[in-house]
Amino acid sequence: MQNGIVLADGAAERIAFEQARAQFPVLERIAYLNAGTFGPLARGTVDAVRAELERDFEHGRSGAATFERNLALRAELRRQLAGLVGADAATVALTSSTTDGCNIVLGGLGLGADDEVVTTSQEHFGLLGALGASAARIVVSEPDPERILAAVTPRTRLLALSQVLWTTGRVLPVRELRERSRVPVLVDGAQSVGAIPVDCAGLDFLTVSGQKWLCGPDTTGALVVADPERLRVAAPSYFSQQGYEPDGAFTPSEGAARFEPNWWPASSLAGLLAALRGRPDWAFARAAASAERCRALLRPLVEVVVPEQRSTLVSFRPEAEPAALVARLAEQDVHVREIPGSGLVRVSCGWWTNDRDLERLLAGLT
Ligand SMILES: Cc1ncc(COP(=O)(O)O)c(C=O)c1O
Repeated sequence: MQNGIVLADGAAERIAFEQARAQFPVLERIAYLNAGTFGPLARGTVDAVRAELERDFEHGRSGAATFERNLALRAELRRQLAGLVGADAATVALTSSTTDGCNIVLGGLGLGADDEVVTTSQEHFGLLGALGASAARIVVSEPDPERILAAVTPRTRLLALSQVLWTTGRVLPVRELRERSRVPVLVDGAQSVGAIPVDCAGLDFLTVSGQKWLCGPDTTGALVVADPERLRVAAPSYFSQQGYEPDGAFTPSEGAARFEPNWWPASSLAGLLAALRGRPDWAFARAAASAERCRALLRPLVEVVVPEQRSTLVSFRPEAEPAALVARLAEQDVHVREIPGSGLVRVSCGWWTNDRDLERLLAGLT
C-alpha cells in the first residue's frame, strides 16, 4: 500500500527504493561504487550541515546555548551509533576516523617490547600506522582464522584486524577469534559498520568510520571501548576530564567519552545524525544483494574474488592495468578504486546501488 493505492507485488518495494536512492542527487550522474572510500552525501545530510553552519554564521559560536547544543548533539550521536552496533552509549567515543580509534587504543594500551600484537597481511594503514608506532612486536599472519590463532603466543596482548578486509571484502570472524584466543581484539570496522550487520558484543574495541558506509560528513567516526576503565587516556582533550589539577593530573570523564580527541563542529554532528536517519531499515539486505548481483554480472567477464564469507566490497582482477582502468571508468563517471600492489579493482556496492550502476560498470569494462 502506498498513498492509499494497492500496488502489485514488489512495486511498493521498488518505490521505497527509488525514494530512498533519490536522497543522493550525485547518483543521477555518477555510478557511485566507492563507498569503501567515501559514501555519497544525501541531500538531508548536506541540508543539516548547512543549517548548522548558517546558525554559527548568524548567531556566533559562543555562549552557553551553543556549547550545550553541541554537547547534546554529541550525546545523541553516541546514542545513535551505539544503537547501530548494539553498544551501550557509555562505551562510545566520538572520533574523527577509524585511524583515530586505532591510535587511541594502541596509545592507551602502552605496550612494550616484550608484548606482541597479531595482525593480518591485508590491513589498511589506518590500523597499521598505529601498530607501527607501538613499541610492541607486530606479528603478521595471513588473514585466515586458523593462521591467526596459530600466531597467538603467551606474549600476545592484542589481535588487531579488520572485520571486513578492504582488499577483497572477506569477512573475518572477529568474535570467534576473540573467544578462541582469549586475547583482547581491536576490530577495524571501517569496511563493516554500516555495510554489514555488526554486533559489538564480545569485542573489546571497535572502530567506526562515519564517512564511508554511513554516508556521513568527512572526518567523523567513533570508537567503542567495552571497558573504558581498562584503557589509559593517552592523548587527552578537554572532553577527557571532569576535573583537573594545576599539574595537569585529571579525573577522567565518565565512560568512553574520555577518549574523545577533539571538538566537532555542530555541522558534522548534525550531518552524521541526518545521514543515520536517512538509512532505510532494509539497507543491509539490499547492499548484500547488490554485491551478489555485481559478482554475478562480473564473473563472465573477469576473474572475481569471491571469499566464502563476503561483504559489500567486490574485488576483481582486470586484464587491463588496474589504475588505468579506474581512471578510464572515472572518465565515464563510474567510480571504483584500485587496491595498490594487488592487481585488483574494488567495487563498493551500497544499499543505494541499482542495476543501472552495475551495467555502466560492465559497459566500461568492455
Ligand atoms: C580497513 C580500513 N581501515 C581503515 C581505513 C581508514 O579509515 P579512516 O579514514 O576512517 O581512518 C580504511 C579506509 O579506507 C579502511 O579501508
